[in-house]
Amino acid sequence: MSGESLLSVRGLVKDFRERGFGPGRTAVRAVDDVSFDVYPGETLGLVGESGSGKTTIGRLIVRLEEPTAGRIELRGQDLRGLSGRRSLEFRRDVQMIFQNTQNAFNPRRTVRSVLSDPYQIHRLASGAELEERIGGLLRRVGLTTPMLDRYPQQFSGGQRQRLGIARALAVQPALVVADEPVSGLDVSVQAQVLNLFAELRRELGLAMLFISHDLRAVYFLCERIAVLYLGRLVEIGPRRTLLEDPVHPYTRALIGSIPAFRPGGGFTRTVIKGEISDSEPVKAGCHFAPRCARWRELGQPARCREERPLLRPAAGGGLAACHFAESSPRPLDGVAELAGGIG
Ligand SMILES: Nc1ncnc2c1ncn2[C@@H]1O[C@H](COP(=O)(O)OP(=O)(O)OP(=O)(O)O)[C@@H](O)[C@H]1O
Ligand SMILES: [Mg+2]
Repeated sequence: MSGESLLSVRGLVKDFRERGFGPGRTAVRAVDDVSFDVYPGETLGLVGESGSGKTTIGRLIVRLEEPTAGRIELRGQDLRGLSGRRSLEFRRDVQMIFQNTQNAFNPRRTVRSVLSDPYQIHRLASGAELEERIGGLLRRVGLTTPMLDRYPQQFSGGQRQRLGIARALAVQPALVVADEPVSGLDVSVQAQVLNLFAELRRELGLAMLFISHDLRAVYFLCERIAVLYLGRLVEIGPRRTLLEDPVHPYTRALIGSIPAFRPGGGFTRTVIKGEISDSEPVKAGCHFAPRCARWRELGQPARCREERPLLRPAAGGGLAACHFAESSPRPLDGVAELAGGIG
């Protein structure tokens, strides 16, 4: 990718105090020195197992959380300490769409009232113009204007997610952070909502950070993919390279562990041993080392336990954080068959 980045994240760190009380509480480093860019009009996928820090990164970007360290810039402007009008403008430029549509809306307010909010808060339209814009927005996401007088509970999950998308788009944001936006939906509805995202992106030139553990959805929608493991970015690159010829042993295992994703077969499944929660991260070294098949194959080199691997250019145009990335085995076969998408 070249050109000016829209969103630039540098050295982002987020520590949480463990839930509960008492002196024994330790801090959890949910996001550990993460850097990446999102370019205008691009959709970047963010994948990783449960607890890897995906949602936390999304919440930091939309300012629902304050970073412990690091910088988040939108069009070169640091978002920390923005106040007043600038802060309101930023809130308009970056919108978030959530997984749980059940709690995303006030049950006592009609769709009209929910969708009027962004226009009124940001003073974008009122009166007849407001009504017209809300109607246009609703149709744009595949809903109909008679629905304006209904309450969000009277919608299906898929319709409610369309409503969530409409609310996010009302203010014409530059960047949308979508956190597992289709995970709570029926499989048939997932494809429809993913298609809606693809259309909106094409028509509006919207940039998006698409957070998901569903590699098929990510492959369908994203130009580039970033892989997180225990708060660290382990690999980032163009979607084809990342899913067809990944360099990092964790990415390889993640892809290999999804049978439906490998219709052609021909690849010995590398099942990741152990759970993310029972592997105590090696702070000084590579977090993935204790579960890494490659590490065992190579005779458990000490370097992986002692030195944190940094992201560096890898074959295929991406970046990977692995000391032994060059010696990675042959490419995966079969993934190319998915190139037609999942719609
Ligand atoms: N408010 C909080 N207080 C304490 N710990 C938190 C808080 N929010 C997140 N964490 C911890 O931070 C880590 C990352 O959580 P996060 O929700 O970002 O993961 P995720 O990748 O979105 O997972 P999932 O796929 O399950 O949604 C986890 O260890 C989680 O327990
Ligand atoms: Mg999450």
